[in-house]
Amino acid sequence: MKVLFISLFLALSYYDDIHVTALFNPSDIRNHLSSRTPYRFRSNKNDTRIRYPDCKDSKIWMIIRHGTRLPNSKDITAAQSLIDLRDEILLQHTSGKGQLTKEQLKRLEDWTSDIDVDHGKYLTTEGQFEMIDLADRMQNRFPHAIKQKYSNKTFLFRYTGTQRAQQSARYFTTGLFEKKVAQEIIFPPVKEVDLVLRFYKHCDRWQKQVKKNPETYKESQLYIKSQEMNETLESLSERLGLTRVISFETANTLYKFCGYETSWDAQHKTSAWCAAFDEETILPFEYYHDLKKYWKDGYGYELSYQQACISIKHMFDSFRNDAGPRATFLFTHSGTILKILTYLGLYKPEFPLNSTYRDEDRKWRISDIDTFAANLAIVLYKCKEGDHVLALHQEDIIRLPMCSEDLCPLKTLEEHFKDSLNNCDFNEMCSLERGDVK
Ligand SMILES: *[C@@H]1O[C@H](CO)[C@@H](O)[C@H](O)[C@H]1NC(C)=O
Ligand SMILES: *[C@@H]1O[C@H](CO)[C@@H](O)[C@H](O)[C@H]1NC(C)=O
Ligand SMILES: *[C@@H]1O[C@H](CO)[C@@H](O)[C@H](O)[C@H]1NC(C)=O
Ligand SMILES: *[C@@H]1O[C@H](CO)[C@@H](O)[C@H](O)[C@H]1NC(C)=O
Repeated sequence: MKVLFISLFLALSYYDDIHVTALFNPSDIRNHLSSRTPYRFRSNKNDTRIRYPDCKDSKIWMIIRHGTRLPNSKDITAAQSLIDLRDEILLQHTSGKGQLTKEQLKRLEDWTSDIDVDHGKYLTTEGQFEMIDLADRMQNRFPHAIKQKYSNKTFLFRYTGTQRAQQSARYFTTGLFEKKVAQEIIFPPVKEVDLVLRFYKHCDRWQKQVKKNPETYKESQLYIKSQEMNETLESLSERLGLTRVISFETANTLYKFCGYETSWDAQHKTSAWCAAFDEETILPFEYYHDLKKYWKDGYGYELSYQQACISIKHMFDSFRNDAGPRATFLFTHSGTILKILTYLGLYKPEFPLNSTYRDEDRKWRISDIDTFAANLAIVLYKCKEGDHVLALHQEDIIRLPMCSEDLCPLKTLEEHFKDSLNNCDFNEMCSLERGDVK
């Protein structure tokens, strides 16, 4: 435990300067890495207990995206082909082309990729730290809802049947309890079909009408072909010293690896591949992913977020049930987080996102809302004046759109979602027989 604390302390103080430099500098490209943005740039380090007069934090329901993971096997394989591109860039620079600095070239020269394809999507060491630290801070904020002492009556941990979610849960418990206690926790068995954690995976109608529907990707596909993206790819190619224009596909692989490697390698702080981008050219890549996810997991189709009623119902049920666990921690994936945020009406852009206009002030920004380890906590406060809830996203207190104050009467929330929750019938929503997508 002590060793863990010391290494944690070192890790935390190490993060500090990175955190500060990246956080206060919106033009730092590391703030624009979409769903691969490092959580250490977003997490809230202020873990002071959150108190309200005449209220007590009594329950918490929290949904958490797994921590930083390795790329999937397809991207791991794609990384292997970057070796050739790397050599081409180095060669071109020796003949005077390209704009990379000596240091950037050196970093590229030293770059290797030796990830085992069989470890695709595994949680990384940095991902473990993200969970340990997150758990620790949440416990400090809500010591009554999140007790120091483990009991299977007061805590519920649930994860999807994936290594990264399961390991995230395991390390999260390490942040909450004594190591020995954490290691001995027996998690409930993974459910084959867990609608609370990943409703959309089993929603046939969503799979057909949204996920596999080409219309969903129309705007993001158009954006790939846009003049803005064209110019970006040209600029990127020039910077790298290439004599041809890099394809969107390859540039996107660089963007992804810039994200992955920056996230999982807190020591080097920035991936060698980030050198391909500057503060202008990073933005279209960020937008491409915002656009794609807006239509697939966000406000684009009602069905996408309508299904999230299943998770939210789970939250209300856990708050209404005095006997149930005090602290519920659910470990899941990006797709669930985005659909829940959308269901709650958060980060809604003023206009639907499209391929012709990139609004730099848009609220829907995956780099902010759906990083690795992205999380949403709803905390039940028992107050003199009845039950209230407080919402935290990325550990910051947020105001839910239907509430007039941060600490919001539970009744207000229940009233707002009453119809949706009364009609929250998975089979009804998700069977293929039902009418067309709205
Ligand atoms: C830290 O959080 C507490 C509780 O939310 C708040 O009262 C305090 O002002 C915060 N401190 C700083 C330095 O932001
Ligand atoms: C909690 O643990 C006890 C024994 O340690 C076991 O009998 C009981 O079934 C567990 N309860 C739950 C809800 O898992
Ligand atoms: C983008 O560039 C390609 C060729 O590199 C060209 O065919 C296409 O017309 C360009 N699109 C736009 C919108 O400029
Ligand atoms: C794209 O969105 C902007 C901002 O809402 C809007 O002004 C523009 O008309 C839209 N473009 C198309 C082709 O719909």
